[in-house]
Amino acid sequence: MALTGVLRPGYTQIRVTDMQAAVDFYTNILGLVETGRDDSGRVYFKAHDERDHHCVILRLADKPGNDFYAFKVLNQATLGELEEKLNAYGVATERRPAGELLETGERVRFTIPTGHVFELYWEQTEVGDGLGYLNPPILIDNRKGISPIRLDHWQLHGADLDGTFDLFTKVLGFTLTEKILGEDGKTVMAVWLTCSNKAHDIAFVRDTRSDTLHHAAFLIETWEKLLNAADLMAKHKVFIDIGPLRHGITRGTSIYFFDPSGNRMETFCGGYSFYPDMKPYTWTWDEVGSAIFYHTRELNERFLTVVT
Ligand code: FE2
Repeated sequence: MALTGVLRPGYTQIRVTDMQAAVDFYTNILGLVETGRDDSGRVYFKAHDERDHHCVILRLADKPGNDFYAFKVLNQATLGELEEKLNAYGVATERRPAGELLETGERVRFTIPTGHVFELYWEQTEVGDGLGYLNPPILIDNRKGISPIRLDHWQLHGADLDGTFDLFTKVLGFTLTEKILGEDGKTVMAVWLTCSNKAHDIAFVRDTRSDTLHHAAFLIETWEKLLNAADLMAKHKVFIDIGPLRHGITRGTSIYFFDPSGNRMETFCGGYSFYPDMKPYTWTWDEVGSAIFYHTRELNERFLTVVT
């Protein structure tokens, strides 16, 4: 199957409680590239290997968390088709005008059953990765800090997991790659979904705290660079939740950490390639430790309880 419809996680608007500290962290520690500031004081960033204008928007607020999450879709026709499918499914949508976000075209906004606000868009100014399109070199100059190559996925929590799962699989074209069953062996507690060839583009966890974020994840090229990211976090006294570690689910490697406002982030590396003919993996409750933290096989309290 060619990649059509929803392509990938595009951008996320993150609430920060101290903009100066946040800009310093996202620029010099996480190592994103600032690409603009708008009239309302929001600051925009992209990761080095991304070609579009931004993947992160920081907004000053009195508490951490994310305002909305956006997926890029293939083209203008796809945006209209998905909006029609959402409406036919009973999901109300709202068109947000081009230019409301810097360098971004018209967006379709809607709320999913777990309470999160999502957007679809197809157009964002291409700023490139600085390497050009003719005989490009490999190395990007002046990379700072951890320097992930792109926004990779989110893990979101909410009560109506079944409703969100149905919406993503029946309307938005996502495919289940892995799930965790509860103690009763029946209730689905968490799902990993892909819209691409990745092991996941988004994960949802059943939780009474709807409209919450567990983490936003950024992609790292190699395990060695992930280890280097941990060294950088230690040097700069970043609050590490846990890691470096291996996941059973997705088989990716990871570090979980917090930005200065308390938003949990992940640096993620690896994971298998998924094709639509592959069956999903199922994890049982007695093996949930291995599913999440493959080596230690135990979940820590903070990882289970802190969401924003
Ligand atoms: Fe993750």
